[in-house]
Amino acid sequence: MRVLLTGAKGQLGQSLSRYIPQDWILLAADKVFLDIANESNVYDVISDFKPDVVINTAAFTSVDDAETHIDFSESVNNLGAKYVAQASSKYGAKLIHVSTDYVFDGNSSVPYTEKDTVKSLNVYGSTKHKGELEVLKYHADAIIIRTSWVYSEYGKNFLKTIFNLVEKNKDIKVVDDQVGAPTYAADIANLIINIIKEGTLQPGLYHYSGDTVMSWYDFANKIAAAMTSSHSKVEPISTAEYRAIARRPKYSVLNCDKIEKFGYKRSCFSKGFEQSVRALIDESKKL
Ligand SMILES: NC(=O)c1ccc[n+]([C@@H]2O[C@H](COP(=O)([O-])OP(=O)(O)OC[C@H]3O[C@@H](n4cnc5c(N)ncnc54)[C@H](OP(=O)(O)O)[C@@H]3O)[C@@H](O)[C@H]2O)c1
Repeated sequence: MRVLLTGAKGQLGQSLSRYIPQDWILLAADKVFLDIANESNVYDVISDFKPDVVINTAAFTSVDDAETHIDFSESVNNLGAKYVAQASSKYGAKLIHVSTDYVFDGNSSVPYTEKDTVKSLNVYGSTKHKGELEVLKYHADAIIIRTSWVYSEYGKNFLKTIFNLVEKNKDIKVVDDQVGAPTYAADIANLIINIIKEGTLQPGLYHYSGDTVMSWYDFANKIAAAMTSSHSKVEPISTAEYRAIARRPKYSVLNCDKIEKFGYKRSCFSKGFEQSVRALIDESKKL
């Protein structure tokens, strides 16, 4: 199995590199080697490497920065996804593309299904949605996985930010009126690896997230609680008080029934939210 992985230095990229079977031939391409916003770079790498499967995790994921870097966000999240889909299709590679819960506006009170209407509140979400449409247009067999609130041992993410603040005994204020489902990157990686191994999942759009719904404030409390020596005070604040640059959905929960019907379990790798948080905190303490 020849696998081309884009965005290899990101959270999900590093998780995939860690768990992809040793006997697969993996080209883990970071942004320097493969800039997905550069059309000829994309075609050159795919035509040279001739992958059986392309996993596109590359994205401009900084939700607030995207508001002031609209062209850049378009070039990576929309056009980049298009080039990857076109080149993968041209050279006969399957494609697994990763997208986001932020395509929705969060006005629902029940988990979003793949059939629900998309209406993003921010540039990141709307450019990611345009990228989804390009993938579906240019690659007939593509699988798109929408996920949410990704955390891991790698890169920058909410768990690591809170861990570092709590470790320094800083008091923190965390938004309590945005609700979602944190998703461990190793779980998404394991899902993608199993999809490739089994090769039976129908092309199309799928939702996949962790199975525990909470606010960012709840998430921060669980991280602090897992750090037994903490003296930090975690206080709830509203989205309005936090004053982030980009708007975010209040309710960002994905309905994952469709992928579960194909036998893919949630939290398959971490065996549950609490356990994965605790394991990551233990790992971080060793660094
Ligand atoms: N993080 C989340 O909470 C979250 C939630 C829902 C969905 N997702 C989706 O899940 C996927 C993986 O996210 P992640 O958390 O692993 O994000 P991440 O840690 O930000 O990784 C994305 C990687 O893509 C790279 N990249 C940026 N522009 C690129 C370009 N033009 N060409 C190639 N690579 C480029 C980034 O490099 P630099 O860092 O050097 O720019 C980074 O290494 C993305 O599609 C994202 O939209 C993420």
